[in-house]
Amino acid sequence: MQRRFAGEQRASELPSPSGFTLHMMRERQIPWWERGVIYQIYPRSFQDSNDDGIGDLAGIEARLDYVAALGVDAIWLSPIYPSPMADFGYDVADYCDIDPIFGDLEAFDRLIAAVHARGLKLLLDFVPNHTSDRHPWFIESRSSRDNPKRDWYIWRDPAPGGGVPNNWISDFGGSSWEWDEATGQYYLHAFLKEQPDLNWRNPEVRAAMSDVLHFWLGRGVDGFRIDVLWHIVKHQAFPDNPLNPDWTPDVTERDRLLQHFSTDQPEAHEISAEMRALAEDYGERLLVGEIFLPAERHARWYGTPERPQVHLPFNFHLIESPWDAAHLRAVIEDYEASLPGFGWPNWVIGSHDAPRIAARIGEAQARVAAMLLLTLRGTPTLYEGDELGIGHVTIPPERMRDPQHFRQPSLNIGRDRSRTPMPWDASPHAGFSTCEPWLPLNDDWPTRNVAAQERDPGSMLNFYRHLLALRRAHPALSVGSFTMEKAEGDVLSYVRQHEGERLRVLLNLGPEPVQPLTRQAESVRDVLASTLQARPYDGTLLPDEGLILSLAPEA
Ligand code: NOJ
Repeated sequence: MQRRFAGEQRASELPSPSGFTLHMMRERQIPWWERGVIYQIYPRSFQDSNDDGIGDLAGIEARLDYVAALGVDAIWLSPIYPSPMADFGYDVADYCDIDPIFGDLEAFDRLIAAVHARGLKLLLDFVPNHTSDRHPWFIESRSSRDNPKRDWYIWRDPAPGGGVPNNWISDFGGSSWEWDEATGQYYLHAFLKEQPDLNWRNPEVRAAMSDVLHFWLGRGVDGFRIDVLWHIVKHQAFPDNPLNPDWTPDVTERDRLLQHFSTDQPEAHEISAEMRALAEDYGERLLVGEIFLPAERHARWYGTPERPQVHLPFNFHLIESPWDAAHLRAVIEDYEASLPGFGWPNWVIGSHDAPRIAARIGEAQARVAAMLLLTLRGTPTLYEGDELGIGHVTIPPERMRDPQHFRQPSLNIGRDRSRTPMPWDASPHAGFSTCEPWLPLNDDWPTRNVAAQERDPGSMLNFYRHLLALRRAHPALSVGSFTMEKAEGDVLSYVRQHEGERLRVLLNLGPEPVQPLTRQAESVRDVLASTLQARPYDGTLLPDEGLILSLAPEA
């Protein structure tokens, strides 16, 4: 019988031939994601195959050789399910099908077979917190107060004096509550009003959502990135959230309050453990949970060895931190220190929600960031297009599409700039489509595209390929130990070590040369990679220079 959430069997209680717990087995066998690199594809913007200006599954399939040649191990697809696209797929109208924009289930089956044929893995985006308001479940739920699905969503009467039930603010601005005239109640939406929150306290919702996971795992997917996992359960009494004393008007309206009662509830951890147990039934499947929380609350989403939760609570520190060596050193050390002994780290520098790394810190430092991402201890996630160094993109106001931008235009946080189509070559529409794409291309696409960068040995693309190949060839860079070293000023310095191999990573995050690092020069055997032109190591670091050095074994 298939496992359903609630009433679960613990993963650690599953029969194992040797009698070891799963945790102990894990120590003997390194799962693929600890060595691997995840590549995020935003399906609307990867490759169009049917001339509508929007990417699709057949397009992704046609570009798989590119992904494989890049040297990554797994692909995470942002949502591909039927959706009215109010939030570009994060408003799901049917969890067990494919939006016709992207293809159909046959196209999906062809894609997953082609992914696996190349030795790659495929992760889907699971969106459990909310559905689309056009999902049949919500249509039923809002049809009347006594509909059997009424309690599948979160409905509340007005506050005693009238108005919204509490002060909760949507992540996209404005109240989290939307009034439904027909049935005289408010429903909760942590994001757009077109994205009503599901009621995960209802066992029927849990059963339906476990069926969704079974559907895709049974179809062969290798795991999920789980959207806003820390949101899925709310405090039962719906108290007001406390005011955030540090809020300033230049950050999102949501942050006026601390999301104390609307997120990170104990019951959500229980559900996360149940998701993990369900996934374990299918073998080596990966769960990556989207979690934005301070370090120690973030680490709780690993669970315990006896009752594990997600394998990787997504770690956004590199996206959120100022690009400053002292700050990053502290962030990296604090993050490492916050991990439970059995917890595997992960890192990310770009996504469909964040500004492009090259736009944020410039192209020279984006190379340093790539070296950091691919040499820290932990699974890296690389976002499509960052391997080309796509930077600032101009989106004319009439072409903006991001609903978050329209709800808070003054904040200039539009996510469209990170979602522009992949520029493949210098042909019309950059080889992405035969017609005008849904979002403009990067301004410099005639020169910044895959084909041009493939021809240029010094390009960002070839730099990424080199780093990814190094990571594969040197296990010290993936599964090796990690030691942060003391360093002055703008420099980050750390050592990765595995079975006698020692590698030092030196990153100059500043515009000044740094010298001399003589003590470190003594033991250097070879320079494996440089963000700049290759040169023998002389104990100095040039501006924007990052190096991976092979060291002599310790005496
Ligand atoms: C996080 C997703 O990454 C983002 O794109 C989306 O808008 C929200 N979750 C709501 O699903």
